[in-house]
Amino acid sequence: MTDHIQFSPEKDALILLDQRILPGREEYFPCTNTQETIYALQTMVVRGAPAIGVTAAYGCYLASREVASASDWKAALEKLLVELEEARPTAVNLRWAVKLMRDAWKASPGLSLPELSAKWLAMAKDIHAQDIEINTAMGRFGADLIDDGDTVMTHCNAGALATAGYGTALGVIRGAWEQGKKISVIANETRPFLQGARLTAYELAKDGIPVKVACDNACALLMQRGMVQKVVVGADRIAANGDAANKIGTFGVAILAKHFGVPFYVAAPASTFDLACPSGADIPIEDRTPREVTHIGEHQITPQGVGVFNYAFDATPSELIAGIVTERGVIRAPYVENIARIIGGK
Ligand code: MRU
Repeated sequence: MTDHIQFSPEKDALILLDQRILPGREEYFPCTNTQETIYALQTMVVRGAPAIGVTAAYGCYLASREVASASDWKAALEKLLVELEEARPTAVNLRWAVKLMRDAWKASPGLSLPELSAKWLAMAKDIHAQDIEINTAMGRFGADLIDDGDTVMTHCNAGALATAGYGTALGVIRGAWEQGKKISVIANETRPFLQGARLTAYELAKDGIPVKVACDNACALLMQRGMVQKVVVGADRIAANGDAANKIGTFGVAILAKHFGVPFYVAAPASTFDLACPSGADIPIEDRTPREVTHIGEHQITPQGVGVFNYAFDATPSELIAGIVTERGVIRAPYVENIARIIGGK
């Protein structure tokens, strides 16, 4: 699946498969300017760290298309870039992509606006294409961690939909499947946005990879019964010490995996590492609208006036992580040294 993020030259627009309404409806959401791109990121038309990075790269191009009439187009453009990189706080790929674009601009300050737009569109297309290659490489490294007959648990959606294609955690699962291993997947439903139930189940079922959805709170029972041999999840930001922020609930899954002796792996590209963050405690955790918890669709499930928590991510300490699968190989403890060596200087 690669058509969920497309650039249309005819419409001069980024066209996104609307992940809010999957799997019921497959509809596309066009972004023609910065505000529409920010809206798509914040409401999770598009989500998942690498997909957010690809979207942000096209978003920079779209921003450059709307400042031509500004009296100071450079200042107007910089303002839009800042708004774009602040759209969501946790996935570092968003800032990573905007920084790449900004650095290219700073390296050639004499570019005219049309020249800069052309450069950024070419860069966005490169980031888009490279992400699929990166995920495929990650899938090859990670596949060797999975044994024939394994049932692999995953949390949230770290699949094709969360990337430009193939996926990170689901890339590892696809890699093992393509090696001919007879595996099956447990997709934790992932309250409240239901990325596991709606998106992971959707894309694995489409590919014919056996998948069952479990309530998030079934994890302990499934592991106690020996029904899970490996856990593989994605990440939104990995600190210099290997602590990995991912969808809320991942930390709990990792604690349970440790308790039951199930290897817990993280799969993420180099762009998801943030060596400026010493540990998971330094990673900003997104606090989303209460409505995602208080309502299912239009139906309110909590009493009027009762507050809720809707932290969207948690950080799993690296001592619970058996290995981090990247496009450069599998990183193992000691993480500080090995991350600095393998990812440092990316
Ligand atoms: O809030 P989301 O849906 O953007 O959160 C996504 C996740 O937590 C994914 O697991 C993570 O971004 C890795 S995607 C390859």
